Amino acid sequence: MSNHTTDSHFEPDYNEKPVEFDRLISKAISRRSLIKIGSAAGAATFMGGASSLAMAVSQATTLMSFDNIPANTADTISLPAGYSYDVLMSWGDPVLAGAPDFARNNDADAQAGQFGDNTDGMEMFHLTYADGSLNPDRAILAVNSEYYNDEFIFEHGEAAKTMADVRKGIAAHGVTMVEMERKPNGQWVYLKDAPMNRRLHGYAAFELTGPVAGSDYVKTSTDPSGRRVQGTFNNCGSGRTPWGTYLTCEENFNGYFGAPEGTSLSAAQQRYGLSENGFGYNWWRHEERFNLAEEPNEPNRFGWVVEIDPYNPDSTAKKRTALGRFKHENAALTINRDGRAVVYLGDDERGEFLYKFISRDAYRPDDRAHNLTLLEQGTLYVAKFHDGGAGEWIELSFGQNGLTPDNGFANEADVLVMARVAASHVGATTMDRPEWVACHPSSPMVFCALTNNTRRGTTDQQPVGGPNPRAENQYGQIIRWTPENRDHSSRRFGWDLYAVAGNPAVKTGAFAGSDNITADNMFNSPDGLSFDRFGRLWIQTDGNYSNEGDFAGQGNNQMLCADPVTGHIRRFMVGPRGCEVTGLTFADDHKTMLVGIQHPAEQWPNTGRDGVPRSSVIAVRRNDGGIIGA
Ligand code: FEO
Ligand code: CA
Ligand code: CA
Repeated sequence: MSNHTTDSHFEPDYNEKPVEFDRLISKAISRRSLIKIGSAAGAATFMGGASSLAMAVSQATTLMSFDNIPANTADTISLPAGYSYDVLMSWGDPVLAGAPDFARNNDADAQAGQFGDNTDGMEMFHLTYADGSLNPDRAILAVNSEYYNDEFIFEHGEAAKTMADVRKGIAAHGVTMVEMERKPNGQWVYLKDAPMNRRLHGYAAFELTGPVAGSDYVKTSTDPSGRRVQGTFNNCGSGRTPWGTYLTCEENFNGYFGAPEGTSLSAAQQRYGLSENGFGYNWWRHEERFNLAEEPNEPNRFGWVVEIDPYNPDSTAKKRTALGRFKHENAALTINRDGRAVVYLGDDERGEFLYKFISRDAYRPDDRAHNLTLLEQGTLYVAKFHDGGAGEWIELSFGQNGLTPDNGFANEADVLVMARVAASHVGATTMDRPEWVACHPSSPMVFCALTNNTRRGTTDQQPVGGPNPRAENQYGQIIRWTPENRDHSSRRFGWDLYAVAGNPAVKTGAFAGSDNITADNMFNSPDGLSFDRFGRLWIQTDGNYSNEGDFAGQGNNQMLCADPVTGHIRRFMVGPRGCEVTGLTFADDHKTMLVGIQHPAEQWPNTGRDGVPRSSVIAVRRNDGGIIGA
């Protein structure tokens, strides 16, 4: 029952008649930008009309048949008419044998057997019947836990005070693998103590693979091999492979480290945001590996994409160093027309970059053992955008493009560990915080959410223009691109802005947003981004939910659904107060969608105990049993 299934999400049809998207390439290469950038103060204006790069709604959409729902500030989940949800699993629910039910005073050992805190990226992997066919009623859910909130996880409500606190906090991180089953009434439930259940938390064993493994940059006093890492932290977005593995992405790992006052930090450490206080979690005061003065190489062992085989609970999860070290948001993998795996990657920080990895070897549909090594070796690239709608990928390999000893790069491992520094050296375009990337399921079109950037235009390193057209951008935008010749290994691509978020109720000009943003569907800070297999683009937000000022009328964080070709965007869900909506995955039949509700702040969900709100995964279904969104 546990053989992996082949995954039909990864079969772009490169022979199909060219779609709308291909026009981007010719537009990009033949024309100047149609986005006119105004003064340095950011008074950008968008040219109207069908030729505008800023998306306008064109013909009718046939992708969505639910009605746009209003924004609101209710402490509940709001869905379109005809949809319902239930809570599948909340922080602290028991997963492993012997784990107790949630209580706020649970200790580290309890937490290590329970669902971690602050749910984020996730993917469902179906189990199979004995004959290898997919079992529509059984699956493994792989789900990230990004971080915790001191005020909820500890009864004293403050930063960790004891080693016991630190141990609980570390156990609340990482990844949860849990089996799920669909009941005859259509409801999915998770199964405690099932064979595939695992907790890969901050004390679990991980293996470094690829060019950095074993190098001096990742050796520590407890691991002179530079290959065996304890834990994974700040697991943000997710990805999946057609060979049935889970990709979990280490984002703000810097926040867990600290050092005594006066410790000098290298320029490289500072570039990755390491500081004396980090998040203020205090771990370094109790556990030496988090003390930068004692273990300066320990942070080099984090900031990677990690591959986990959900179908083999005895396997060791692999940190894939060939994909570069930065604050990884998610990992959007597609199989190129030549068979190689291509992974698009965002580095979520103001003014950081967008990356692409191409595997050295090709995917073989019938050779899983081979495919399980595909992400070990390959080439990393970083994006440079030109104003006219053209763009290029610049290779980040040692010895190429000035990444040489003369310029401070010692070897391939150095380039990968310091990917940000290498990308700056080759002149990559600083972006408005790249969050999730999503590959269209049936064409070589790719989208990325640029969540916001209040520093855009305030430094020379972050000029206004191109895909980042507004200074002090509080709303964010979604870009899209198509590789030249529909080949993801092409050096050139064409890009445009799919949606420029804004508030047409209180702003005019660029800050009102692109033409497909209205007072009815407006939002800010797009973050989670994922396609379903029918080509609907789902957009999740992590933004300002004050519902005031620049954000008046936008309500709580939410999830929208979009037609990637026509530009239509409709609000599908509004989350409860204080939450971020992040992480989504579908059952194979797309009749159930799982959505992550991270850090709810008040009473939701009603399963809350001991007076604390609990991050939760919900399951959304149509009351008539139909396909979500259709
Ligand atoms: Fe964990 Fe960039 O979001
Ligand atoms: Ca995010
Ligand atoms: Ca975010």
